[in-house]
Amino acid sequence: MAELIAVQGDITTQRVDAIVNAANTSLLGGGGVDGAIHRAAGPELLAECRKLGGCSTGDAKATPGFHLPVKWVFHAVGPVWQGGGRDEDDLLANCYKRCLELAKTHQVKTIAFPAISTGVYHFPPKRAAHIAIDTVREFVEKSGVEVVRFVCFNAETLAIYEQFLAEPPLKPVA
Ligand code: APR
Repeated sequence: MAELIAVQGDITTQRVDAIVNAANTSLLGGGGVDGAIHRAAGPELLAECRKLGGCSTGDAKATPGFHLPVKWVFHAVGPVWQGGGRDEDDLLANCYKRCLELAKTHQVKTIAFPAISTGVYHFPPKRAAHIAIDTVREFVEKSGVEVVRFVCFNAETLAIYEQFLAEPPLKPVA
């Protein structure tokens, strides 16, 4: 049974096999998580991302971690919140699902996620946390991942994740 935990901290300092970036469709960097990861990884990361030809919203692509203390960075592109009527929930869920698929491909056993889309993309934090936890619970066993860290940048986000992780799964996990 995989372990799901919430921690407060910086995604770039997590010592895991893979960290997830909250990227945009260009994959050419930005602010927030994206900016922090590119700063910590070094310029080789941007050079590698240029070769990927961008990434669709709801999808994720893998690169090495370069100067980060991780083997992989999975660049996920979350949806911009537009009120909830533009498939935002499914697109956000798909980011987590695609990262777990990449984890299986790359034999990743420990992975750290930021709260994708809840910053510049304005996705409501509680709604996003429910989607993140429910989606990870649904797909983590078949991914082979043993530890999932939800890395929260502030105490408010941490409290949300701790509350929802303490709740039983909505549907029994297969
Ligand atoms: N470590 C962990 N979490 C962080 C960090 C960090 N170093 N920096 C910010 N966060 C948190 C934010 O507080 C927010 O809760 O990560 C969450 C996601 O925020 P953003 O980084 O703004 O990502 P997102 O909302 O998905 O917007 C993506 O922002 O930086 C650009 O290029 C990026 O266009 C893309 C957009």
